[in-house]
Amino acid sequence: MRLRGRKGIRESLERQPDLVVLDGKSLKGRWAEYFGNTNPIHVEFGMGKGRFVSEQSVRNPDINYIGVDMYDELLRRAAEKARLAHGGLAEDESIPNLALALCNLEYVLDMFETGELERIYLNFSDPWPKKRHARRRLTHHEFLRKYMLILNDWGEIHFKTDSMSLFEFSLNSFADMGLRMRNISLNLHAEGLREDLVPTEYELKFVDRGMPIYRCEVLVGKLALEEHVQRLKEPQ
Ligand SMILES: C[S@@+](CC[C@H](N)C(=O)[O-])C[C@H]1O[C@@H](n2cnc3c(N)ncnc32)[C@H](O)[C@@H]1O
Repeated sequence: MRLRGRKGIRESLERQPDLVVLDGKSLKGRWAEYFGNTNPIHVEFGMGKGRFVSEQSVRNPDINYIGVDMYDELLRRAAEKARLAHGGLAEDESIPNLALALCNLEYVLDMFETGELERIYLNFSDPWPKKRHARRRLTHHEFLRKYMLILNDWGEIHFKTDSMSLFEFSLNSFADMGLRMRNISLNLHAEGLREDLVPTEYELKFVDRGMPIYRCEVLVGKLALEEHVQRLKEPQ
């Protein structure tokens, strides 16, 4: 039964090559060609059911989005969600600025070329609370080292989580890599849900329960950092 279910999921994904990318390695260095333009590429690593990346792609047609997850069932659900968010598209219709890609992020360097991305969103990444699992956290310095390669000069990482311990770990990780942070928040929605930021599935659940959301932006690219410093020098 399980096998047939999985086969069904695969078949469903294979029917949607204009939205679902099952072999991201073949597009390494060719994502601009895939989208047919040179607009900036923003990715969500660990997109889950894809609410965030779908909504972002609706709000910002001039940015190309890639949602990445390692489970094909989540990709199938994300594809459904994306088609609904874009007005109820059929399975054979594409969304010009969105791709959903299957990848275990351990192998992220096989999928993206140096400087190919402008922004990485890490939303509610699994906290892996046990110390022996620390290397699986998507903000572990080994992951950051890879992100720093694939981000371009304007590159940023936007990170949010409900886990105080993951947030603490991540701030140390960013600092260890010499990265500068801005807009650090220990309770993102303290004054009500922020309408300028798209909430994720997990986020809506946690906010409903009254839990604080931790967030920060990390400046990776040299131009992103320079622009930030320049702005601070301007009179307020
Ligand atoms: C807690 S969920 C958060 C989902 C979504 N970002 C949200 O906020 O609603 C974390 C997601 O990260 C994915 N994930 C964790 N480790 C991963 C890895 N190494 N490669 C790809 N995806 C991963 C999981 O499959 C899961 O869908």
